Amino acid sequence: MYQKIDEIKKYIKCFNIQTYDDLETFRIKFLGKKRGILTNLFKELKEISIYKRKIYGKIINELKKEVQRKIFHYQSKNDIIKNEKGLKHDYDPTIPGKSIEIGSIHPLSIIKNRIIEIFLNIGFTYVDGPEIEDDWHNFTALNIPIHHPSRDMQDTFFLCKNPDILLRTHTSSIQIRYMKKHRPPFRVLSIGKVYRNETISSRSNFMFHQAEGFFIDKKVSFSDLKQTVHYLITSLFGKAKIRFRPSYFPFTEPSAEVDIHCNSEWLEIMGCGMVDPEVLKNVDINPEVYSGFAFGVGIERLSLMIYDMKDIRIYFNNDIRFLRQFKSEF
Ligand code: PHE
Repeated sequence: MYQKIDEIKKYIKCFNIQTYDDLETFRIKFLGKKRGILTNLFKELKEISIYKRKIYGKIINELKKEVQRKIFHYQSKNDIIKNEKGLKHDYDPTIPGKSIEIGSIHPLSIIKNRIIEIFLNIGFTYVDGPEIEDDWHNFTALNIPIHHPSRDMQDTFFLCKNPDILLRTHTSSIQIRYMKKHRPPFRVLSIGKVYRNETISSRSNFMFHQAEGFFIDKKVSFSDLKQTVHYLITSLFGKAKIRFRPSYFPFTEPSAEVDIHCNSEWLEIMGCGMVDPEVLKNVDINPEVYSGFAFGVGIERLSLMIYDMKDIRIYFNNDIRFLRQFKSEF
């Protein structure tokens, strides 16, 4: 074996490498998995005594390192001849480098972040909730009992029936989750995806983003609600004309819809109202002591107005030309 090793050593040293093909032949000749000279030597080690194995093992390992060093040396040498035509470099140094594109924040995220900032300024806490909900949090606790016709207002995607598990139809379920765990006073904002089985059109989609805010304390009144909505709208749009139109939601009483005056027409942007005493009772808050307001607003709707867009689908078809326009808005 000793003689063999000596010959191999010389062979490694003298092996003439000029092209990449030579380099590859060299690598396979010594380290190839099936018939590499060193690979075979390692195999042979198994057949000799432990004592010799240790000594030769070390030597063969050194040879392996020698081969690897030589490969590395030629790999990092730029003037290795690439092929017979004599191309000098293994890369073309004149090709421009790969540029890294800087992305932009999605317009819906921009509005989301703005709304969060607006509400953190007036002492609201931001909380999150699950998109998969049970019937109680999404409907029953919000004063929408089974078979109540108001369930039809939100055509629901059920994931499983009995017990009913569904994709939340609104962020109001977060109110319930939060109020069950905390005692008033509190001001809470949450923003997230909600799902309704609606036909996709320029104004609606089966999924949209909703911001929900609620404030529970002693002596909270409708004028607090009006002032808060006014503050949100003016923070987003500057000076804007808004109106409160009487409406119905099972979980608020009285309830209103807020419209904003835009391009000489009134556009509905949010629902709101005073939290129904039944809802407070469902989460063990005494409605004789506490009152509060809640509102829900669609982020896509707001965004259409802010960016003067006509079609909600533009937010979801990932057209890079549209998204690039928001690069500056960090
Ligand atoms: N959850 C209502 C909806 O999705 C909006 C809303 C929230 C209305 C809070 C009143 C109070 O339609």
